[in-house]
Amino acid sequence: MNAPHSEEFLTLQEIVAAARANTAPGPWSYLIGGAETETTVRRNRLALDSIGFRPRVLRDVSRIDSGAAFLGRRMRLPVMLAPIGGLESLVEGGAASAARGAAQFGVPQMLSSVCQPGLEATAAAADTVRVFQLYVRGDDAWVDDHVKRAKDNGYSAFCLTVDVAMYSRRERDIVGRFVKPWRATAPAGSNFQSGLSWDQVKRYKDKFGDKHGLPLIIKGIATAEDAEIAVAHGVEVVYVSNHGGRQLDHGLGSAAVLPEVVKAVAGRAQVWVDGGFMRGTDVVKGIALGASCVGLGRLACLGLAADGVAGLVRALEILEEEVRVCLGLLGAASFAELTPAHLCAAPAVSEPGVLSAFPLI
Ligand SMILES: Cc1cc2nc3c(=O)[nH]c(=O)nc-3n(C[C@H](O)[C@H](O)[C@H](O)COP(=O)(O)O)c2cc1C
Repeated sequence: MNAPHSEEFLTLQEIVAAARANTAPGPWSYLIGGAETETTVRRNRLALDSIGFRPRVLRDVSRIDSGAAFLGRRMRLPVMLAPIGGLESLVEGGAASAARGAAQFGVPQMLSSVCQPGLEATAAAADTVRVFQLYVRGDDAWVDDHVKRAKDNGYSAFCLTVDVAMYSRRERDIVGRFVKPWRATAPAGSNFQSGLSWDQVKRYKDKFGDKHGLPLIIKGIATAEDAEIAVAHGVEVVYVSNHGGRQLDHGLGSAAVLPEVVKAVAGRAQVWVDGGFMRGTDVVKGIALGASCVGLGRLACLGLAADGVAGLVRALEILEEEVRVCLGLLGAASFAELTPAHLCAAPAVSEPGVLSAFPLI
């Protein structure tokens, strides 16, 4: 049987099924797995599934605008491709393919520092709004060199991922003896970021915090307390994330943490979020809770694994359609019209899991 062309995908479920069929067991486990019991992975979905909608009617939604601003630029949806290390194990071209898909559809890409073909080649691959995400693997000079290269190559912001003080135990990878290429060369048991502290954030802001520098995003905030400290350091974006449940096990779902962070930040910085966002309704929930951008981790990977650049673009098109249907049925003609009053607590009705948003799989 020939694999379907991307235009034949009519639902995200078909894209997920094609991705699964195309992906070898090692990379598949790497993609869908989480830490230890995978409780945090499931709680990401549970938190989203535990939010219900309160629709308003008769509001003239004949013209829906599902676009949004991202660091001052207009994007087609309030979503971005979250940083993914080792994308090259899931799709030919790795981050360059992600860049092309992001540019073709019209959303930003956040590039991981552990993804091929690297900072310069990914920037050259396509013209889209880009953010560079760094795992700190060297001294201050090494970090500064990455900031300079990001700026020289047109990246709009710089992101430090901070939920990686220890490298977690991802048991699907361990059991399957799947060794990520960038881990293969690392000394056993190395926890590169265990010595990092807020001092490094202060150093970044002191050195690059003026108008010539790049705005700073701190990715991996999961409490109001740390959001407050980030804002006190002048961070431009507080990114609520638990790394897709791949780091600390038994954490809370991102959508459950988001309200306390939005409240603590109180408009002094932007709040972005990721973790389990797989559907248009999920994106709408994240924005209604006060995030200005939703990161797509596994969903973007699934699109790329299904059919490369075309698969990613198709996944984003279907997501956009889902967003528009949801906004219209909520009586909101744009994201600006959404409020927390469109949401309420509701019991989840299905067993949460990494792919539970796709019950036909
Ligand atoms: C395969 C894979 C690789 C990832 N690599 C990185 C990375 O290099 N840097 C990073 O900050 N986060 C990384 N993450 C976390 C994502 O950026 C994002 O926080 C997470 O995937 C969001 O959850 P979701 O997959 O449920 O959407 C990775 C996630 C996955 C699934």
